[in-house]
Amino acid sequence: MPMTRRDVLGAGAGAAVTLGTAKLFAQSGDPLFKLIPSSGEMIPPIGIGTNRYGVGESEDERAPLRATMARFVELGGRVMDTAAAYGTSEAVIGDLATELGIRNDLFLATKTDIRGRIRGVDGFRNSFERLRTEQIDLMMVHQLVNTDTELPLLREWKAARRFRYIGASVSSRDQHGEMEQFMLAEDVDFVQFNYSLGDRDAAERLLPTAADRGIAVMINLPFRGARRSLFNVVEGQELPEWAAGFDCASWAQFFLKYIVSHPAVTVAIPGTRQVRHVEDNFGAARGRLPAPAGGAVRQPGLSRASRRADPAACEAPACRNTCRRTPHIARGRGRSDYRKERYARHPPRFPLAACPNPFAGVVSYSNRQAADTGELSW
Ligand SMILES: NC(=O)c1ccc[n+]([C@@H]2O[C@H](COP(=O)([O-])OP(=O)(O)OC[C@H]3O[C@@H](n4cnc5c(N)ncnc54)[C@H](OP(=O)(O)O)[C@@H]3O)[C@@H](O)[C@H]2O)c1
Repeated sequence: MPMTRRDVLGAGAGAAVTLGTAKLFAQSGDPLFKLIPSSGEMIPPIGIGTNRYGVGESEDERAPLRATMARFVELGGRVMDTAAAYGTSEAVIGDLATELGIRNDLFLATKTDIRGRIRGVDGFRNSFERLRTEQIDLMMVHQLVNTDTELPLLREWKAARRFRYIGASVSSRDQHGEMEQFMLAEDVDFVQFNYSLGDRDAAERLLPTAADRGIAVMINLPFRGARRSLFNVVEGQELPEWAAGFDCASWAQFFLKYIVSHPAVTVAIPGTRQVRHVEDNFGAARGRLPAPAGGAVRQPGLSRASRRADPAACEAPACRNTCRRTPHIARGRGRSDYRKERYARHPPRFPLAACPNPFAGVVSYSNRQAADTGELSW
């Protein structure tokens, strides 16, 4: 018999106390929210990534994931990212969300099927069936595979209100050039790419471009993935004392607040399968965010409640889009001509020099900044 939501929440709370995470969670302040520029909807900046939710049907395998999802929603979390390619992940999320009765609390993001010959509409139908839902919040072209055929279908299904938002994902530095071209050429709501304290390339072009184009950004691999994890880099090291200045009580919150304090970032999706991890990670969606050296940084899209809670965190360049369309396609002009002209008219909103440095000169948003300041690179 499935556990009830109350059973699961009870078990989750017990585990938190046992493992001492209650301290991490005991942070003050309203939860933060960030803006989806294409709609004005606000979402919490910490979600869950589920590329390791592809488990079987046994209670042993599913119980920790059920408890994690229940606790996530109880904390105020909404965004869960999955993909057809993550084994049974979509089905597991669909089953557990139904058992817990939390489908309407979740913002479900998934991606087109890149595993075999299933493409387009057949893939969409499978995702709806596995996620057990009538509407998917965000559907992305996975790894920009078959964009030419998938994106027009995504647009049709968005027009039919089966998808609320559409976009595309990549997850490695090698794909950033392609992603930048995609953002400049296409009118989409969301993009997903990798960015972390140990992998900062996205701050040089992708984040400014997303801000300039008014595209919401979902960050994957925020801990640099399980294999090259940032937790290994800091093993045995104490958090710097100044981290308390932005309500940071753990290395996980340090890594995540680094990411979500960037004005162009909408949500980070740490892979999370444990209650103690979700409690720790969601702490990064509360309290103050780091402010840059030499002045406060306005975080466009932070909710009013959080601005009140965090007067230090706000006066930054606006990241609302003013230039969403790509007229070069209509006019039949080359993309590079269009880009030159567009940048002349609308310079990128976050030129490197103006990029806020959240950690008071200790770390920087981009690799180039880090090199300029002699900061050690992780
Ligand atoms: N192309 C794409 O679209 C693409 C590619 C890659 C990833 N993604 C998405 O991005 C998500 C995140 O990437 P990822 O999961 O590979 O890497 P990640 O988020 O950088 O790291 C996940 C690892 O960190 C651990 N962890 C989580 N919270 C922790 C905490 N508070 N303290 C210590 N360890 C913690 C997790 O453990 P537990 O699992 O035990 O909690 C897991 O081993 C994926 O799940 C997926 O949804 C998308």
